[in-house]
Amino acid sequence: MKFPKEFVWGVATASYQIEGAVYEDGRSESIWDRFSRTPGKVLNGDTGDVACDHYHRYKEDVALIKQLGVDSYRFSLAWPRILPEGKGKANQKGLDFYKRLIAELLEQGIAPAVTLYHWDLPQVLEDKGGWLNRDTAMYFRDYAMVAFEELGDVVTSWITLNEPWCSAFLGYGNGEHAPGKADFPSHIVAAHHLLLGHGLALQGYRQLRLPAEIGITLNLAPQYSVSSKPEDLEATRKADGFQNRWYLDPLFKGAYPKDMGELLAYVVPAVHEGDLELIAGSNDFLGINFYSRGLVSAAGRVSNPQGPVTAMGWEVYPEGLYDLLVRVHEDYGPIPIYITENGAAYHDVVEAGRVHDRQRQEYLEQHFEQAERAIQAGVPLKGYYVWSLLDNFEWAFGYDRRFGIVYVDFETQERILKDSALWYQSFLRK
Ligand code: FCB
Repeated sequence: MKFPKEFVWGVATASYQIEGAVYEDGRSESIWDRFSRTPGKVLNGDTGDVACDHYHRYKEDVALIKQLGVDSYRFSLAWPRILPEGKGKANQKGLDFYKRLIAELLEQGIAPAVTLYHWDLPQVLEDKGGWLNRDTAMYFRDYAMVAFEELGDVVTSWITLNEPWCSAFLGYGNGEHAPGKADFPSHIVAAHHLLLGHGLALQGYRQLRLPAEIGITLNLAPQYSVSSKPEDLEATRKADGFQNRWYLDPLFKGAYPKDMGELLAYVVPAVHEGDLELIAGSNDFLGINFYSRGLVSAAGRVSNPQGPVTAMGWEVYPEGLYDLLVRVHEDYGPIPIYITENGAAYHDVVEAGRVHDRQRQEYLEQHFEQAERAIQAGVPLKGYYVWSLLDNFEWAFGYDRRFGIVYVDFETQERILKDSALWYQSFLRK
């Protein structure tokens, strides 16, 4: 495989999934602390209380990242560490943790790519309505400004939101994620406020004239129809509108998709004058998290996909990455693109100190090939981050689903480079 010289290779994580230390140094409760403590919400009653204990072991983890030989590390800031009240006064100790982490990365020559919001909203803001409350978008901007001002001289790239579809739909639409609200129409309002928060943060960022690039990360999945019957094609168009276009269109075309009648009816009351202008336009790049595709029939999503599946039950369909990249470039470009997450969960076992995760290695290799194909086809793909550096707290699945290329023994906190990590390392050396 041949990638451009300046192509950025990385690994990714997120605050609540790895940090632990939830009571330390003034951090306040997040919606995920509350949700994971609610019986029945997370598999095995797991919480992020300790997770990978990264808050204390960040040096060791940066050493692992260095060992892999990647260019960049994508991680997220915990809003409740930086602004324990959600707004107002910043917590110096929280900021200091990220300053130490970034200093360590820079010392090792690794570029910090920072996500501002990877789902851990301060619970105090949820108590005021969370993302259903328009004020949360303003609070997000204020929090972002603190981060930009405090860390803006050392961060290489900023991502405002991770996967607003998940925050909105899983958080407020079906309740599978924190804060666990299940009201389909209102999740569209949450999505609008998330996008508005993104737009406001971007506007604030531009005023500071900082050097780093800034963008947003969406979880996109190409949708394929099971047949060419009109009713299946129609269902596929809707599935694409729901997951992909509902976010891409306002961000890159300044309007919600006109063909999504029901959703439009839900969003109209929430859209104030000027919102769409704010949301659209000035991203330096688009981040895409890619895991699988959707196969759609009029009867609903197909639950027995054609290919092999991962431990999440997600179909492995690498060609989908190529199709998606080409399509996004054609319909929304020209915009530089990063794959900000791609990876797979498998039930790993340690055998004599090694983890032979051949399937994960193949998954990665096949997706690299499709990424390369997309570059050949003219897509301005600038980088790729493996999800994830470490096995971690996989949201509603707790510690049961392992996505890491580094194995974590959650009893001892021992880290073991899986075969996929060793493969990635040798790939990068070449
Ligand atoms: C994405 C999330 C990430 C991780 C992967 C498996 O939706 O952004 O935190 O959980 O899925």
